Amino acid sequence: MAEGTTLTTKQCLEQEIKGETWEVIQYLAMALKADNEGRTEVAQTLRSIAMDEAAHGARFKYLADRIGDLQSEIEKMLSGEEQAVDGKHEGMKVAESSGQKEVASFFDTAAHDEARHAAMLRNLLERYF
Ligand SMILES: [Fe+2]
Ligand SMILES: [Fe+2]
Repeated sequence: MAEGTTLTTKQCLEQEIKGETWEVIQYLAMALKADNEGRTEVAQTLRSIAMDEAAHGARFKYLADRIGDLQSEIEKMLSGEEQAVDGKHEGMKVAESSGQKEVASFFDTAAHDEARHAAMLRNLLERYF
C-alpha cells in the first residue's frame, strides 16, 4: 500500500469481495480446461480451491453487511434470474447467427438453468415468506 493511503475496513472488504468473486470463476474455468484435457485430479484440486474462494467471498460480503432482509434479497435475485433468461437467449441468438454452435448451445442450457433458479426462488417466496 502506498504511503499515506489509508483504507477503511469497508474498502478492504469490498476489494476482497471483488477478488474472491473473480477467483471463483477463474478456478472453475481452469478446472473445466483440466477436465477437457483428462487431468481429473488437477480439476478436482482447482474446484476445491474455488469452493474455498466462494466461501471467503460470501463471508466477506456478509461481514460487509451487504445482505439485507432475506425476502428482499430473494425478490431481487428472482428479478435478476428472470432477466438472465432473456439475456442468455439474446446471447444464444447472437452466437447462433455467427455460427458458434457450442457457445449457442451453452447459452441455451444456461437459460434453462436461470429459469429453473427463478422457479426455485418463486417457490421459496410462496412457501416461506
Ligand atoms: Fe480467498
Ligand atoms: Fe441463475
